[in-house]
Amino acid sequence: MAHYQRLGDVPPKRHTQFRKPDDELHYEELMGEEGFSSDSSLLYHRGVPSAIVDSQVWELPDLSTRANHPLKPLHLRLHGLFEDAGEMAWKSLDAVTGRRLVLGNADVRISYAVAGEPSPFYRNAIGDECVYVEGGNATVETVFGALQVRTGDYVVIPRATTHRWVPESGSPLRVYAVEANSHITPPKRYLSRFGQFLEHSPYCERDLHGPVEPLLCEGEDVEVLIKHRGSGSLAQQGIVGTRMTYATHPFDVVGWDGCLYPYTFNVEDFEPITGRVHQPPPVHQVFEGYNFVICNFCPRKVDYHPLAVPVPYYHSNVDSDEVMFYVAGDYEARKGTGINVGSISLHPGGYAHGPQPSAIEGSLGAEFFDELAVMVDTFRPLEIGEGGDAVDDGVYAWTWAGRGPGEDSGRYSIG
Ligand SMILES: [Fe+2]
Repeated sequence: MAHYQRLGDVPPKRHTQFRKPDDELHYEELMGEEGFSSDSSLLYHRGVPSAIVDSQVWELPDLSTRANHPLKPLHLRLHGLFEDAGEMAWKSLDAVTGRRLVLGNADVRISYAVAGEPSPFYRNAIGDECVYVEGGNATVETVFGALQVRTGDYVVIPRATTHRWVPESGSPLRVYAVEANSHITPPKRYLSRFGQFLEHSPYCERDLHGPVEPLLCEGEDVEVLIKHRGSGSLAQQGIVGTRMTYATHPFDVVGWDGCLYPYTFNVEDFEPITGRVHQPPPVHQVFEGYNFVICNFCPRKVDYHPLAVPVPYYHSNVDSDEVMFYVAGDYEARKGTGINVGSISLHPGGYAHGPQPSAIEGSLGAEFFDELAVMVDTFRPLEIGEGGDAVDDGVYAWTWAGRGPGEDSGRYSIG
C-alpha cells in the first residue's frame, strides 16, 4: 500500500527522541516489507516490542492436503463444515484457531471458520491474509489499532501484524480466509507508478478503511500465537506454530505512520465493469498475491449486445485452478447443480468448464445478475484439505453430462 496514513502521536522527525509524559523514551519499531526496500510503517510502543518471557510450541490445526487426483471439478458445501457439529457449535469457536483448511498449495491456503468467541492474539509470519467476511460483524484489534469489520468486508492483514478477531456477540461470524505465502495487494495495473489508484480501477483509496485510533492496551505476560516458517513435513509446507509470551501488551502503540497497515475493503464498494458482450474475469479482480489473484462477481447489469450470451463461454484456463465461493444471490451459470450460497466450486487447470447447458438458454435476455461470488485463481494446482474433503458433494463432476460412472440414465440430469 502506498497510501500514507498517520494515527495517534508520532514525533515530528523519524528516529529521534520521543518521550512519554514521565520522560521515558518510547520504543520505535519499523515494520517493513522486502528488507527495508518496500512499504513500511514506524510504530511507537510504550513497552519493548521484543521483550518475551516464554516461547512454546503451538500445535497447528490439520494443514495436510491431498492431490486432486484423479482430476475432477468439485463442489464443496462449506456451511456443512460447522452445521454438522451442531447448530450452536460456532459459539465456542474463534476465527483463527477454528479455521478448517479447504484447499491449498505452496502459495496460498483457503480455509473457513464460523466463530462466536474472541480469537487468541495471533500473527501470521508466513504471509499476508485476506479474510472475506461472509457474514457477521467483528472488531479486529491490531497493533495499529482497531478495524470495524462487517459482512462483505475483505480484511487485509499484512504479514506479522499482531491481531485478534472479536466477533460481535449473538450471531455467527463467518470468515473465508485466504492466507498467502506472499503479500496481497491491489493489482499493479490499477495503480500509477507511484502507487495511486488510477481512474480505470473499480475502487480507490476512499474505499479502503484502516484503523481509526490506537488501542493503548496495558497488560503483562500476553500470549501471542505465531504461524511461521519452520521445518515441518512437506505436506504442511514447513508451516509451524509458536506460542510466545510478551512481557507487556503488544497493543501498546501510541502512534504510527507509514504505508503498511491492515485495512478493510467492502465488496459493495467494488464498481463492476460491464460491456456489450461478456467481460473476462480480470475486470472483476480485487487483489493479487504471488501466483494467485482474488476477483469478485458482484450484482451488475449484464451484457447488452442484442445477441449477447450473458453467462460465460466454456473456458480452459490452462494456467489456473479456479475457486468460486458463492456468497449471495442466484448464481446464473450454475443453475441446477446444487450449488448455492455457501458453496465452493473448484474448476482445475487441465479441464474445460463453463455453464451447465440449460443455463445458457436460460440467461438470454437477462439484464441484471443478482449474484455475489468471490473467486481465487491459483497458478499452481490446488490440493484438498481435510475441510474440503469433509464437504465434497461427490457428484458435481457429472452434472454437465447428466450421468456419472456406471450410470446410463440421467441421475444427475439438470435438464
Ligand atoms: Fe471459470
